[in-house]
Amino acid sequence: MVGTETADDAAVYQISEELAIIQTVDFFTPIADDPYAFGQIAAANALSDVYAMGGAPKIALNIAAFPNCLPVEILGEILRGGADKVKEAGAVLAGGHTIQDEEPKYGLCVTGFVHPQKMWKNVGAQAGDLLLLTKPLGNGILNTAARAELLTEAEQEAVIHTMALLNKYAAEAMSGLTVHACTDITGFGLAGHAMEMARGSNGTLQIHTAELPVFPGAVEYAAMGLVPAGTYRNREYVSDVSVGNIQGTSMEDIIFDPQTSGGLLAALPAEEAYIARQRMREKNITCAVIGQVVANEKEKLIFD
Ligand code: CO
Ligand code: CO
Repeated sequence: MVGTETADDAAVYQISEELAIIQTVDFFTPIADDPYAFGQIAAANALSDVYAMGGAPKIALNIAAFPNCLPVEILGEILRGGADKVKEAGAVLAGGHTIQDEEPKYGLCVTGFVHPQKMWKNVGAQAGDLLLLTKPLGNGILNTAARAELLTEAEQEAVIHTMALLNKYAAEAMSGLTVHACTDITGFGLAGHAMEMARGSNGTLQIHTAELPVFPGAVEYAAMGLVPAGTYRNREYVSDVSVGNIQGTSMEDIIFDPQTSGGLLAALPAEEAYIARQRMREKNITCAVIGQVVANEKEKLIFD
């Protein structure tokens, strides 16, 4: 049902009238000093693609690389972090594979279930839809600042907590509602993933910069030049974008900032978007109405 055509979050294969399976894999090098936190974040990131499709994770397999010069207890902590997130997701961790490598790497291969008629794609947004974003932006910038040992304890805690947070709760808040399009914000940043949604939906996404949720400190660290290299790659990749009066400011860095385990970006009819936001507020989940879908214009993505 879903392959490589629209740069969607996962592959989907229909089994029957009532069941389709979602298949995805994601892994990366350590994003946090604490191995347990790294395991949690890598797992939350991998599981996220199933939530972005409107599905429920069912089976997960570890994929890991680890050097033989480090104590094996560290690998144990990474896997424990991952296992705890898989459990929280309500899925079964059923094994996996570890190879020896110079740098640690960890992630999951995840299989999820979805009803074929209830699947969310990253395309299909319609003019008039409101756009919801369910995690603050700027974690790539904060992680760059963390490597320079500049983060305060509170900033460090906030960014780790948010990256480790499952998109399960945001997805659950939208279940039963009309979700025309949904994706999660990861390596291509808000602008890159929003661009995929706009292109595939044959519409234009108009995003109000002032409404964007941003991690405390991200604007300041970006102004100090603590911007990951991926930000500039994303800026080149995204064409047909108007950044309006944020051009050259830290906010421009933030919209292109590659995210690790970012939030969901979803397009819903206005009334239902507000219902979703209300449900998320009740559960203390970030949920901002960041803009709307308009008819196709010359620019596919307009930041105002
Ligand atoms: Co994704
Ligand atoms: Co992914």
